[in-house]
Amino acid sequence: MAEIRPKQNVVIETSEAQIAVHWREEEYYYPPAKFVGQANLTDPDILERFSEKNFPECFREYADLLSWDRYWDTTLDTSDPPFWKWFVGGKINASYNCVDRHLAKYKNKAALIFVPEPESEAPVSVTYRELYVRVNEFAALLRDFCGLKSGDRVTIHMPMVPELPITMLACARLGVIHSVVFGGFSGEACGMRVADSQSHVLITMDGYYRNGKLLDHKAAAEIALSTAKHEGQTVDKVLVWRRHAGQNASATPFVKGRDFFVDELLPNYAGELVAPVPMDAEAPLFLMYTSGSTGKPKGCQHRTGGYLAYVTGTSKYIQDIHPEDVYWCMADIGWITGHSYIVYGPLALAATSVIYEGVPTYPDAGRVWRIAERLDVNIFHTSPTAIRMLRKSGHDEPTKYNYHFKHMTTVGEPIEPEVWRWYYETVGKREAVIVDTWWQTENGGFLCSTKPALDPMKPGSAGPGVPGIYPVIYDENNQEVTAGSGKAGNICIRNPWPGIMQTIWGDHDRFVTQYYAKYCKNRSSKDWHDWPYFASDGAVLAADGYFRILGRVDDVINVAGHRLGTKEIESACLTVPEVAEAAVVPVADEIKGRVPEVYIALKPGVQASQEIVDKVNKVIETMIGKIARPKHIHIVSDMPKTRSGKLMRRVLAALSNNMKTGDITTLANPDVVESIRELVQGKEVVALTDGPEDLKRFGTEE
Ligand code: WT7
Repeated sequence: MAEIRPKQNVVIETSEAQIAVHWREEEYYYPPAKFVGQANLTDPDILERFSEKNFPECFREYADLLSWDRYWDTTLDTSDPPFWKWFVGGKINASYNCVDRHLAKYKNKAALIFVPEPESEAPVSVTYRELYVRVNEFAALLRDFCGLKSGDRVTIHMPMVPELPITMLACARLGVIHSVVFGGFSGEACGMRVADSQSHVLITMDGYYRNGKLLDHKAAAEIALSTAKHEGQTVDKVLVWRRHAGQNASATPFVKGRDFFVDELLPNYAGELVAPVPMDAEAPLFLMYTSGSTGKPKGCQHRTGGYLAYVTGTSKYIQDIHPEDVYWCMADIGWITGHSYIVYGPLALAATSVIYEGVPTYPDAGRVWRIAERLDVNIFHTSPTAIRMLRKSGHDEPTKYNYHFKHMTTVGEPIEPEVWRWYYETVGKREAVIVDTWWQTENGGFLCSTKPALDPMKPGSAGPGVPGIYPVIYDENNQEVTAGSGKAGNICIRNPWPGIMQTIWGDHDRFVTQYYAKYCKNRSSKDWHDWPYFASDGAVLAADGYFRILGRVDDVINVAGHRLGTKEIESACLTVPEVAEAAVVPVADEIKGRVPEVYIALKPGVQASQEIVDKVNKVIETMIGKIARPKHIHIVSDMPKTRSGKLMRRVLAALSNNMKTGDITTLANPDVVESIRELVQGKEVVALTDGPEDLKRFGTEE
């Protein structure tokens, strides 16, 4: 924490996240020799193999890591830009590739190790053989009891338990498209996704442990179903896994003929085998909803062949996963990181993937390191938010435990060099290589990262594009921002890659406008060179070719490495009858990076009260989830607006973050800014900063 002492002697604390603006060029750290000696990727020739002149055929190398039912004819089909098709003509099953094909060599090896939150419950290993049995039995249930077949969608709202990947792999076995909704999302949020994906079946769980409590999770299913129904989608079956078979952690009524306990049905399918359905490489494997600039989350539709090839290749070369590794990614499977780098990538490589149920600091700050020691984890993967939290709650805890990581990942948000160094020195004990992987839900897998045995690490920088990814930074005038210029711009990927989503479920136009319209050079061209992918992130490119990601340029807030749309939160606020207007802005937070802060203006005649604040808090929690909880809710008399009536979120973001507001003279109501400033910052004038790049840019694109 740094302190700034402004004139009036008011002490303001600057968060680590804010310090990020003043980053200098950092020095390099080199991969430990021991790591290099065993790494999957040590041949510098990879750059040549994946260079533009070998594109797109270079990606055969990734697809060849998989077992295909039918080999493909065309590696990349660009006939309908930007709807690229990969490995066309190929047939493949993801469940087969993550399970069956490992039986010959690894049937007795742990595929998953489940670590329950209560330390009194011992970790549970699921061998590849056991995974095979359980995936088959559950697939039989989905097929014969629910009547599901390839192409159908199923929504899964589950916590971090082995039954979650079992459910996903059972769907994949049948070609059923799964849509996993993060377990922490509310029933309403889940219901909206059930409706958008037109799922007839919802798979949930009675309860799970979090922070020492057994939570009633099935309660959310009730709300999800009524929300979905309101949106016109009826769910006929709710499958309920139980945290402890035979017991029920949920107090919500059990609806006969609609709700079914999985442990009661499964005995009917004991020992059944379901042949994996050979799917078209282009058949959708899953949907993953994410927030964008509009109020409605979009369903990122990921293909089977290209996606699986891409996550397998990057798991092997960037995560350095070998079958003998114990790999622990602490993300939630309900986010894309968990799909790609807990389930599909590691299992396709026959690794042992750890699933931890609970909170990293429960019951104390040593928990994570105790798990690492007990399971002998050697690859560790988490987010800057978790690293900041672990550092704050137990700076020296890692030194007390005897574990040894060879490889560590940071993902989801920019990491401050100070925090990076703690990760490297204290968590990694200077023995581990670190990769800072930049990518998005839409991308399937990593876009920028160092190649762990080949490239030096630079704290705070993701690194160059990974093999086969050609990133570029464009400014607002479509000009390329050159390396070493120190200028920020919009990072884009010039080429298609196998992991990129196929489309937005049910909204092809939005797919094109959101990701390709901005920098498309020629709408009628069928040449991929004319269709750069616009990522919506600001970035700078150093002279050494390393990208430093600054954060979102749209009105998406990255909270603890997860995306929330400001418009989603605003629409939730507007459902409170007293609220006339709402504006949501990001505010810097020491642990979570950014969190939402809410401004509301009330309807005429309504008095401001704590009750209204509570109502707004509550509605955000019920419509989205606890993850969207605002840092503050400010009730203001009026919102800063332009003369044409446009709400100036940029000005509010500046006030929330003690940043300079810039020119406000053109506002219709400049006076209101001073009154809001007083409300937010207090009567004393505080020292103002320019603010971090993403906050500076926030709202400027509106
Ligand atoms: C946004 C995507 C897929 C990873 C999990 C989040 C930010 C992601 C980094 C990184 C700086 C990062 C970007 C991106 N982001 N990784 N290594 N350094 N920023 O997936 O929820 O789709 O969010 O997270 O702003 O656009 P997501």
